[in-house]
Amino acid sequence: MKKDTKVLHSYEMKDKLTGAASIPKYQVSTFHQENILANQEFVYSRFGNPTISSVEKAVASLENGKYGIAFSSGVAAISSVLLLLSSGDHIIMCNDIYGGTYAIVKDILEKFSIEVSFVDEEDSSAWEKEIRENTKMIYIETPSNPLLKITDIKRVCEIAKQNELISICDNTFMTPYFQNPLDLGVDVVIHSATKFLNGHSDVVAGLVVTNNRALQERIKSQQVNLGGILGVEDGWLLMRGLKTLAVRIEKSELNAKKIAKYLANHPKIPKVHHPSLKSHIGREVQLNQASGFGSVLSFELKNQEQVLQLFNAINYPLVAVSLGGVESILSYPWSMSHGGMPSSEKQNRGITKGLIRLSVGIENAQDLIQDLDQALKTI
Ligand SMILES: Cc1ncc(COP(=O)(O)O)c(C=O)c1O
Repeated sequence: MKKDTKVLHSYEMKDKLTGAASIPKYQVSTFHQENILANQEFVYSRFGNPTISSVEKAVASLENGKYGIAFSSGVAAISSVLLLLSSGDHIIMCNDIYGGTYAIVKDILEKFSIEVSFVDEEDSSAWEKEIRENTKMIYIETPSNPLLKITDIKRVCEIAKQNELISICDNTFMTPYFQNPLDLGVDVVIHSATKFLNGHSDVVAGLVVTNNRALQERIKSQQVNLGGILGVEDGWLLMRGLKTLAVRIEKSELNAKKIAKYLANHPKIPKVHHPSLKSHIGREVQLNQASGFGSVLSFELKNQEQVLQLFNAINYPLVAVSLGGVESILSYPWSMSHGGMPSSEKQNRGITKGLIRLSVGIENAQDLIQDLDQALKTI
């Protein structure tokens, strides 16, 4: 089955009972039990719900995974996975990382005396060098947010396996359409389904997928205990959004490649970050491990004043904290996605006051380029 067919037909997308063309919304909190001593599949919606179970199966099948768990947000998924660690454990994470994941590390993991090292993700040996006696987990985000840095998933997972570490990969930017980390050796894949999987900027959701039964059980129990479940309405919307993943992501990636090229040739822009560009450091690794470059890019202006001028002049993109919608979304990592990170940490990571992130949508590429062009002329 080709991947665009897989997006629609590798899981049950119709209701078995009635033949309805979409899985119904089981808008319930609880389920009647005929026999209180017998096991039944659905008991209480915090433990499991038929609509949510369908979404979990759908995303798991797209990731070539056996088990999916849907969460109330990407961050709920990430925190449930990171809290598999115990006090005194050590985790190695990529340097360039989503601001909310960094916040979990600083506000929660460190409070529980879980040690964290951040490494240069582009250098596989840096991951290996950082392993200590108490290291239990490695955490990859590739391409990373917001600098699109690429980690060699296969190589880093080999290192993890040799050292009996659990490997986690945030696959939000690529989606299973372009990259399948489980096939490359990752133990647990995480998604902010708020982004491309849903694709319409109208749902907040998270997904975890794994092939490892023991990990599935631990993460599921973590979710039952912490309570970060996905609501039925949002699960249903996510399932609907998923059906058009292929057409959305193909079109937005095509646009992103054109825009990255245009920006890279613009005299007012010193640097553009997108793996489609020959100048991008991780490009070769990306070509080996993914079938696309994705539609999130970032670029640098000289200073914050220029950034403000561009944001004031731009017309089409939504100016917002998010990405992966059908509409283009422009954001400013310094004060938005990474606003909670101390300035010195941002500077160390290359998140400058001149950095702008663009999630390219499915509009006409020429219109988007003309809009950027007129906005850049005001600088
Ligand atoms: C790469 C990445 N992972 C995780 C998240 C968190 O997802 P959510 O906002 O759904 O909690 C985001 C949000 O922007 C993200 O960009």
